[in-house]
Amino acid sequence: MSSSLSVRIRGDSFRLKMKRILITGASRGIGRAIAEKLAAPDVTLLLHGRDTVALAEACKAVQSQCAGVVKLIHDLATAKGVSNLISQVGTDPLDVLINNAGIAVVKPFREVTSDEWNQTLGVNVTAPFLLMQRFAGQMPPGSSIVNILSIAAKTGFSGWSAYCMSKFALEGFSQSVREELREHRIRMINIYPAATNTEIWDDVAGNWPRDKMIAPEEVASAVAYALSQSANVAVDNITLSNAAGNL
Ligand SMILES: NC(=O)c1ccc[n+]([C@@H]2O[C@H](COP(=O)([O-])OP(=O)(O)OC[C@H]3O[C@@H](n4cnc5c(N)ncnc54)[C@H](OP(=O)(O)O)[C@@H]3O)[C@@H](O)[C@H]2O)c1
Repeated sequence: MSSSLSVRIRGDSFRLKMKRILITGASRGIGRAIAEKLAAPDVTLLLHGRDTVALAEACKAVQSQCAGVVKLIHDLATAKGVSNLISQVGTDPLDVLINNAGIAVVKPFREVTSDEWNQTLGVNVTAPFLLMQRFAGQMPPGSSIVNILSIAAKTGFSGWSAYCMSKFALEGFSQSVREELREHRIRMINIYPAATNTEIWDDVAGNWPRDKMIAPEEVASAVAYALSQSANVAVDNITLSNAAGNL
């Protein structure tokens, strides 16, 4: 078991003290909110993004509350970018891997280009696959993989075909990997937020009621809740719906 782990016996259960947490897409939106929520004196946050300015701001916001912050700047749409990220993370075990980075190409399916399709697959599906495959083997019992999926992982929406394709794919993949990892006591926590008020909506055509959307901090709270459970408890799935109904 990792030397970075602090284990306390409570009856017949034990609690994992989180230490090394990798969050992809932490430069803004939900990823940054998760970083701010999980920042703690005994935590090293490995924060990934592409936008150097936004990522620097995210790191600055949490660094005084953490044991350490590592900045990781890589494009996850490419195999090279993912492998560079893996190299930079190194061989020390992760206690939590949070697959959050994502893109949304929103347009009629006849207009989706091959590049957009491949980009969506690369960032939303292939990168989480490669990161799980690389890191799960070193993760100690009681550690967690968190996937920020979407209600679009379970329901199709007009105009969202490429996005739904990617989220359904990660849903099926992660459900299967969850079963493979149970014997290692690694928890697969899937989060399904409805519309959340982040910059991802800036490029989506239409009038979206941003004030009715979930705040990214609420998604972060759900992640923190799941991670705070005893290592014997797996919060497999959390769905966050818009209280006002589908937007
Ligand atoms: N907002 C919603 O309504 C909603 C609802 C359900 C699920 N989600 C999911 O939540 C996750 C976060 O979304 P968000 O709403 O917080 O979006 P966001 O504000 O647009 O942030 C997306 C993050 O992903 C990173 N990213 C995008 N493309 C990348 C690439 N090619 N390589 C590396 N990083 C890349 C961005 O990095 P840079 O900006 O630094 O490039 C950014 O940090 C996504 O998986 C999304 O599908 C969002």
